[in-house]
Order: sequence, then C-alpha cells, then structure tokens
Amino acid sequence: MFFASDNWAGAHPAINERLLRESARFASAYGSSELDRTIERRFNEIFEREVAVFFVATGTAANSLALASVARPGGVVFAHTEAHVIEDECGAPDFFSGMRMVPVDGPLGKMTPQALEAKIARYPQDAVHHGRAAAITMTQATEVGSVYTLDEIDTLSSIAKVHGLPLHMDGARFANALVALETTPAEMTWKRGVDILSFGGTKNGCWCAEAIVFFDPAMAKELPFIRKRTAQLFSKSRFIAAQFEAYLKDGLWLELAGHANTMADRVREGLAASNSARLAWPTQSNEIFAIVRKEAAAIAEEKGAKFYDWLQPRDMPETVAGDEMLIRLVSSFATSSDDVDAFLKAIT
Ligand SMILES: Cc1ncc(COP(=O)(O)O)c(C=O)c1O
Repeated sequence: MFFASDNWAGAHPAINERLLRESARFASAYGSSELDRTIERRFNEIFEREVAVFFVATGTAANSLALASVARPGGVVFAHTEAHVIEDECGAPDFFSGMRMVPVDGPLGKMTPQALEAKIARYPQDAVHHGRAAAITMTQATEVGSVYTLDEIDTLSSIAKVHGLPLHMDGARFANALVALETTPAEMTWKRGVDILSFGGTKNGCWCAEAIVFFDPAMAKELPFIRKRTAQLFSKSRFIAAQFEAYLKDGLWLELAGHANTMADRVREGLAASNSARLAWPTQSNEIFAIVRKEAAAIAEEKGAKFYDWLQPRDMPETVAGDEMLIRLVSSFATSSDDVDAFLKAIT
C-alpha cells in the first residue's frame, strides 16, 4: 500500500537487467560512449526531430540547468505558485540560473493566461530595479495531478512567443501526461512551442535517469559547460543511457505510465464510492488528492498504508472540515490492483 510517491517504487526489471549487462563491460567515459550517442539519437526518433539531449541525475538538476541555459542577468522565470521549482527545489533553479522564480496563480496547478500576462507585465525588459522577464516554466503533468491540454499549452506558448521568452516544461511525469492525453511526445512539446523539456524517467521505472531535451540544438550550446560546472556530468553517464535504452525500448515507458494511470483511475473510482473519503479535485495523471476523515486515515496508516498529508492549495474547490484532512496518493508502475483494493478497504 505504497502511495506516498512514485519515487518510492523500485526500478523495473528490464531496466535492472540492462544495468546489469552494462556493468559487465568497459566503455569510454563522460558521455562519449557509443551507447550515450545511440540513446541521444533515440530521443530524435521519440521526438520526431533532431534534439540535443543531456543526461543528468535528478529532476531538480534538469530543471535548474535547463533554466540556467536561458539565464539573463536580472532575469525572472514565471512558474505556477505550486511549481516544484518554487516549492520543492530549495532554490536550486534560482541558485544555478541566477534568476528569480516568480509565482503565477491558477486553479488546478495550471497558470492561467491572464495571471501569466499580468505577471509578465510587471517585469518589462528595461525594469532594472524589478528584474526582467526571461523564461516561463510549466509542469506537465502538474504537481497537483492535472494535465495541461494541448490547447492550454498552445496558449502559454503563444504568450511566451509574443514576449520573446523561452518555454520550459518540467516533465518529471511527462509519460503520465502523455498517456493521459493520448498524444505524442512531439505534439505535447515542440509542436506546441515548448523549447526545453526536463524529461523524467526516475518516477516511472528507472533507477536514476533524467534528461534535458532542447528542441533547437542551437539553444544548447552552453549546456555542456553548465552541466560540468554544476557537477552533473557523470563519468559513467552510460549507465543513465542504459536505463533510457530499456525504458524507451518497445514503448516500455508508455506501458509503465499507462499502468500507473490505470491504477490511479482505480483509486479514484474507489474513493468516489467511499463514505470516509472524497476526491479533493479532479486529476488525470497518477496523482490523486483526497479529503479523508482523520480517523479513517489513521486506521489506514495503522494497517500499513503510506501516503502524505498535503497542505491545502489556496484555490482548493472543496473545504476540509475539522475532522478531515487532505492527503496525496500517487500510483506508480509498481502499484498492483491488490495494493489499490487493500488501500480502499483500509480507508473505507
Ligand atoms: C513536478 C516535479 N518536478 C521535478 C521533480 C524532481 O525531483 P528530484 O530532484 O527529486 O528528482 C519532482 C519530484 O518530486 C516533481 O514532482
């Protein structure tokens, strides 16, 4: 009954097996091996165009270095108020990019075009005292389990283009969003105007594999130096490449995300029928937020259920009564229907 986070899950056997095979051989270091190169090219196929790819260890590193690559003195980066880059990265994006993350409001974890425009207007290009607009970062799937529609991505990217700002996407749960929208990697990114993507593998079956993807390789020319100076150039980078090889082979990544999303559907259905819990807001990916009677949550925890208490977002549609609490549940590639059913039984 592990619903605390998708990064509590282990690694998929196919990825472990590939790592094991990799560990038995020699290859050149620092991203120069044939395997590194082959997997970088594999991303071209996945995204249906030539991209520049950089392997890093964590999602925080991917976000921070992606933003560092578009850094401008006095620059500010617009992100949703609850974005991981603002709330959960201890200021790493600010530290590595030298820019400030500025919060933009919007319900269900998504920036609204109006709120984004209003914030951009406060940071004109000559605002030497306030700082100037430099980039926009959006999260797909969002931190609160919702997914931007393709039209919504279009709208944000049009705003980015009008203001000449690069658009970054935090895709720690990229695969979950892709499956939820039933679309392609190209459609959800560069075809909608996304410039840089943090492509996550760790939450979806890898052991430790993240990549920064530039849809215009010319934008990536500083990244080799940024990555080295931020200590993210692994000498045994091929072990990240090896994970991605297995992850991207025969659609494994989409299969795993599809499974996680299906398990989340099962949780959502179960909670909708429960007497002691209800969904706090609608979600489309592998994250579920529920308002639960405290007593029921305590019983479930006693029975071994793992989940996080969650701080109520400002614009939460439902109210949480005194004897209730908000919790977050996350399913993963490793969640089984039995886990879900046991959890639902424990909480209801
Ligand atoms: C939306 C989002 N972005 C990025 C990350 C990456 O985090 P980490 O640096 O822990 O890999 C996470 C992990 O929780 C996340 O939820």
